[in-house]
Parts: sequence; C-alpha cells; structure tokens
Amino acid sequence: MEKLIGKNKIPCAVFISGRGSNLKSIYNYSIKKISKIYVKLVISNKYNVGGIKFAKTKKIKNKIIIFKNKNKAEQQILEILKKNNIKLICLAGFMKILSKNFIKIYNGKIINIHPSLLPKYKGLNTHERVIKNEEKYSGCTVHFVNGELDSGKIIIQKKVKILKSDNAKTLAKKILIEENKLYPKAINKVLFKT
Ligand code: GAR
Repeated sequence: MEKLIGKNKIPCAVFISGRGSNLKSIYNYSIKKISKIYVKLVISNKYNVGGIKFAKTKKIKNKIIIFKNKNKAEQQILEILKKNNIKLICLAGFMKILSKNFIKIYNGKIINIHPSLLPKYKGLNTHERVIKNEEKYSGCTVHFVNGELDSGKIIIQKKVKILKSDNAKTLAKKILIEENKLYPKAINKVLFKT
C-alpha cells in the first residue's frame, strides 16, 4: 500500500447502500491536509440514499449501479474504477457481497467497516444478536476484504461497553459514533502502516 503514496493524494472510491455517515467521515478526513486520499468516486447500489445526496452536495462523482445481475453490475463497476484510476476502495455500509473474482482484482485494496468486534457477529443484524446474547461489549471493526464474509485481516477495532439499558437501536447509535471516528484512523493506518 505504501507504494501507492505519490506526491498527490490517492484516488479512492467509497461504496455505499444508504445513509452514508461513514462516507461523510471519510470525506471530511480526506479533505484534511494530513490525508493521503481523496474521494474521487461514490458507488451506490441504491437510488436516492443519503450517501448519494451527500456526494452530490460535495460534487463527488457518483454512480448508481443496481445489482439485478451481479456479474454485469460488477463489470460495470470495474470499468468505472479503472477509468477513474481508483487505488483504494472503502466499503461503507455497502450491503452487497462482492464476488471472489472482483475481490481478487483489487486484492488488498478493499477495506470494510463492520459494526461488531470481529470475528464475532459476522453478517447482518449484529446489534440484535449481541443484545440477545447479553454481551457486555460490542464495537466496530475495519478490516481488509477477502473472499470470505467479514473475515479479512483486521486493521483496527474499537470496543464499546453495553449498558443494561441498551437495546439494538441505542447500541447501533453508540457504535456508529465510534465507526465514524474509526474509519479515518483505519485508512491512515493502512497507508502509513502505523
Ligand atoms: C454501519 O453501521 C456499517 O457498519 C454497517 O452499515 C452501517 C452503514 O451506516 N455495515 C454493515 O453492516 C456491513 N455488513 P452509514 O451508511 O451511515 O455509513
């Protein structure tokens, strides 16, 4: 990854499916002087989501790619990524599973945020499962994406204490605040290998 750091900032793509709070935090970090990336492209698999509205307000190039046919959708995305010389892909609430073939092409250059302390609670509905199991802690993880769901090498994690009064909704809210702080730290860590 160090090799990617040139004189200029690294062109990065953020993949989203919804609200886009992590996109926003990545963007806000990217415009800082210390950041080695800039958000060149936002890809969403859904129309009219918060993340796309945000990209538009910041004039970031954005594309909606509907995953009706996964293979076709991924081919379209690969073309756009190539055209834009994208060197780092940040999955930020992107709710589609990329194929092994896609991941291979961008091997080591795709990172994802997941709202649990991986390897615990991979997949969906993490907060509900964490609450149901009466865990004392949960948190969030940024990891490299490999061919297995939520299983790539962990870059950074943040632990969050669960209170007796917490439910899935309050926990999600608390963890999201930490996610938004963690993603920029993860990018920094990946690029500076600190
Ligand atoms: C975040 O909580 C993120 O961790 C989660 O979706 C939310 C997106 O929020 N991602 C996953 O569950 C991926 N498996 P955002 O759109 O506000 O960034």
